Formats: sequence, C-alpha cells, structure tokens
Amino acid sequence: MEMERTMIGDISRKEGKEVKLQGWVYRTRSGKDIAFVVLRDSSGIVQCVVKKDVKGFDDAQKALVESSAELAGVVKTDERAPGGYEIKVSNFKVVGFAEDFPIKEQQSPELLLDHRHLWIRSQNLVKIFKVRSTILGAIHQFFRDRGFYEIQSPSITRMACEEGSTLFEVKYFGEKAYLTQSWQLHAEAMASALEKVYCIAPSFRAEKSRTRHHLAEYWHAEAEAAWITHDDSLKLQEEMISHVVQTTLKKNRKEIEELGGNIKELEKVKPPFARITYKEALERLKKKGVMVKWGEDLADLQTRELAKDFEKPFFVINWPKESKPFYMLENPKDPKTVMNADLIAPGEFGELIGGSARETDIGKILANMKSQGIDPKNYEWYLDIRRFGSVPHAGFGMGVERLTQWLCNAEHIRDCIAFPRTINRVYP
Ligand code: 4AD
Ligand code: MG
Repeated sequence: MEMERTMIGDISRKEGKEVKLQGWVYRTRSGKDIAFVVLRDSSGIVQCVVKKDVKGFDDAQKALVESSAELAGVVKTDERAPGGYEIKVSNFKVVGFAEDFPIKEQQSPELLLDHRHLWIRSQNLVKIFKVRSTILGAIHQFFRDRGFYEIQSPSITRMACEEGSTLFEVKYFGEKAYLTQSWQLHAEAMASALEKVYCIAPSFRAEKSRTRHHLAEYWHAEAEAAWITHDDSLKLQEEMISHVVQTTLKKNRKEIEELGGNIKELEKVKPPFARITYKEALERLKKKGVMVKWGEDLADLQTRELAKDFEKPFFVINWPKESKPFYMLENPKDPKTVMNADLIAPGEFGELIGGSARETDIGKILANMKSQGIDPKNYEWYLDIRRFGSVPHAGFGMGVERLTQWLCNAEHIRDCIAFPRTINRVYP
C-alpha cells in the first residue's frame, strides 16, 4: 500500500477518494461473505466494509479486537455509520494479530487498572490525554510569553517542603533522602538568579488518604518570581488559569463536550477571581452548618460547600500561620495569618493551586522552624538565600491532573494521568 496515510479524523475531506488507513480493530463483526471492521486510530474511529472478493478478506474475518491493520479503500458517506462515513475496502492487511483482548464490556475498575497499559487506548482516556496535552502546552506558552525561564530542580532531595507525613523516603547511598514534594525551595534560590522561573515536573506525595483528588505522583506546574508581591502572584495565577482554560476550550471543545465538561462554566473563567479570607471561609461555612476550627485545613467536603457560592475559581487567602509551612510570609496586618492562598475550583474539584509570598526575614524563618520542630541544620543552604540579598518573592504550584480533572469533569483524578500511582497501585 504505497499511498500516503490518511488519519481517520480527516476522512470527511476525502469523500469519494481512495485512502490508506492504519490503526487497530476497535470492533468487528463478520458474516460468511462480509466483514465489518471498525478501525481506530488516535484521531477517531470509522467503519470499514470488507467484502469476500477483496484481498485480505480472510485476515479481516479472523482479526480479533485490537489487532493492528492497514487498509486501502474508498470513503463513502453513509448516514447510518458512526461518524457519517464508511470505507469500502479494496485491500486489507493485518499487521499484528491480537490475542483475545482481556478487557470486555462492563469490567470492574480494578481489572481496568490492572490492564491500564491496554485500557489507555479507550476512547474516553484518549480524549482526556488530548486535553491534558493542550493544558501542558498552554502552561509553557503562558510563562514563556511573560518572560519566565523554564528551569529544572532535583527530584531527590534531603528536605521536606510540605508536610513531613507525605514524604517518600529513598535510600541514597547510605543517606536518607526523599522524593520531592515541590520544587519550591530550590526555585526560591533560582529566583535570585533568573528572577522569573517556572517548571512542570513530577511531585511526590505519600498520600495515605484515598480520595478522588490525590495521586502519589502528580505533575506539578510551579512558578516563582523575585520582586513580586502576594497580590501580583494572585493576578498571575488567575491569568494563567484563564489562559489555560480558554486555550484548551478553543482547541479541545469537542473532547471536553463529549467528556461531559461544563462548557458554560469554563467559558466564564476570566480574571478576576474572588478572594475570601480563611476567616471569612469559616464564617460562610458556619452559616451552612459546617463547623471548622481555626487552624484546621479545609477538607474536600468543605471546599465543595464553599464552591457552591462561586461560579468561577476563587482564592481562600490568609490562612492561620500555625498550620502552614515555615517559609510563608507573615501577614503584616495580622501576624496570626500568612500571605498565602489556595485556589479552589468550582463544583466538586477542590484545590487547584497552593501558593504564597515567602518570608524574607531569616529570624522569622528560624522561629517558625523552631516552633514546628524543624532542625535548621538541614536547611542551611536555603537560609543562605536570606543571608545574601533577600528580596520579596512569591510563587505557587498547580496540580496538572487537578486542572485536567476539572476541565474533563473526570470522576477520578487517576484517569487524568496515563499510569496513575496511588496508595495501592504502582503497576503497570
Ligand atoms: O498546596 P501544595 O502542597 O503547595 C506546594 O507544594 C507549594 N510548595 C507550591 C509552591 O508554592 N510552589 O501543592 C500544590 C498543588 C495543590 O494545589 C494541588 O493542585 C496539587 O499541587 N497537589 C496534588 N495533586 C494531586 N495529588 C496530590 N496528592 C496532590 N497534592 C497536591
Ligand atoms: Mg495545598
């Protein structure tokens, strides 16, 4: 088949013409004299009709689901066919015969996860991966257009950035080390060199909770900038989210629609986003009959309750200092709180971003470490950032799968990454 390949998604432009397709058998049904093979490639599916007199008919008849094949044939409109087109095949060739496919209809989630390496071929996951790819591209574009440099930081580190309880320990040549929870501490050092930096990389959390929003390994889009205030950072965050959402909506509207994403809600995602303080969040929750004690984190249930008041993502700012990491800038107007924010998605999707302005005063950082039982010895290099030309700076981190989950309206975050790592799964 010496012809140039046509993608299935493009066949509407080739009506009446002969095309060559390559793909996998998505569905198949054959009689004595005819085989109906629905072929799948990354761009879509199409029904291909193979008659008995056609070269390769025997192969077409035998080929089980997920066999790979190439074929030549003429594109015909057919209103009954899914997608409105059908291929009248003149030559059919199986490239790789498939064994009996282990995934049938109505399989349990566990079986699907065990066969993830095959299940990623399914139509819904393919759509989600396309959306995810656009999201990642849009994040890069956003930061590069604003003069941010992409940098990389180590995945193996000796320090906790976030809560110690979610650290993954690794043996490191006889020393104890951890998989990184966030690039932030190293990024703060880089911000004194390149000023505006960003990165998209895996972060690791030994999350013991089984929720629909937590992975053990997730992709973290993080940014850090010198000489900016907390308010500048919030503006950057709302602009980034809006840019990514609108870009993705433009490019993948069809996928998002088919996945059941909330197009109307997403279209409204434009700056500014509302800002409420943590204190105000507790008051709002109290009115709804949900009691949260000062200092407690907001759980899924509580952010969902708050989200009912907002049509767009919204910030919860100024959290209690005692419950937050040592690096957050004390709020000069209310030293019980810090200059930080969580960005909460509308609906059920919870926290999209965590960020803060960073404490510049080494004395305050040391005091915070002391009250949190952290040994400053392990953070000597980090403290040097304050010793040598400390400047105001701020940054944030966004979970790529969290954003993908919201855009695709995916029930579980694990479907927003090809090979999810969760508390009970590191295979395949
Ligand atoms: O709120 P977090 O823990 O903030 C930080 O790591 C900061 N050091 C970031 C920074 O300022 N550079 O995590 C940031 C985001 C969360 O808002 C959430 O979207 C995502 O990372 N995230 C997770 N996503 C999936 N699975 C998990 N277990 C996640 N934990 C956090
Ligand atoms: Mg957080």
